[in-house]
Amino acid sequence: MSDHRIELTVNGQTRSATVEGRRTLSDFLRIDAGYTGVHVGCEHGVCGACTVIVDGRAVRSCLMLAVQADGAAVTTVEGLAAPDGTLHPVQQALRDAHGLQCGFCTPGIVMTLAALTSDEKKPGAETLLGAMSGHICRCTGYQGIRKAARALAGEDV
Ligand code: FES
Ligand code: FES
Repeated sequence: MSDHRIELTVNGQTRSATVEGRRTLSDFLRIDAGYTGVHVGCEHGVCGACTVIVDGRAVRSCLMLAVQADGAAVTTVEGLAAPDGTLHPVQQALRDAHGLQCGFCTPGIVMTLAALTSDEKKPGAETLLGAMSGHICRCTGYQGIRKAARALAGEDV
């Protein structure tokens, strides 16, 4: 398997690396680059735990090769909170709604919701709840997760 030189930004920092062509983006981020908030569950695109934001879109990093992220801007859950520790609105909403238990599924859920919501983008609850259908929570903490999604859509919960 041939090696490839890649350069990308992760959470605003430029990173260069040499990776095998078969290296997944999830393994590159978690194992090679140390972003352990990228959780790996199923490794075939079902559970959503490995979701990160690539050039503004939520992506299952277990289904993307690191070489495909060459030149991209990647955000992991480590890059969401402000430098002073202030939580991202999605993180705050999940905290307020008790939308997590063990936390294994949480980074992926946070990244999916963060990709869909911003100061400019205000999706409705249907969109956010629909996106949550792509995430499996082994703790079955769905009520709190759904409550957080509805709060992000501006609903009174
Ligand atoms: S580990 Fe990527 S979707 Fe489950
Ligand atoms: S909070 Fe444990 S897997 Fe979702």
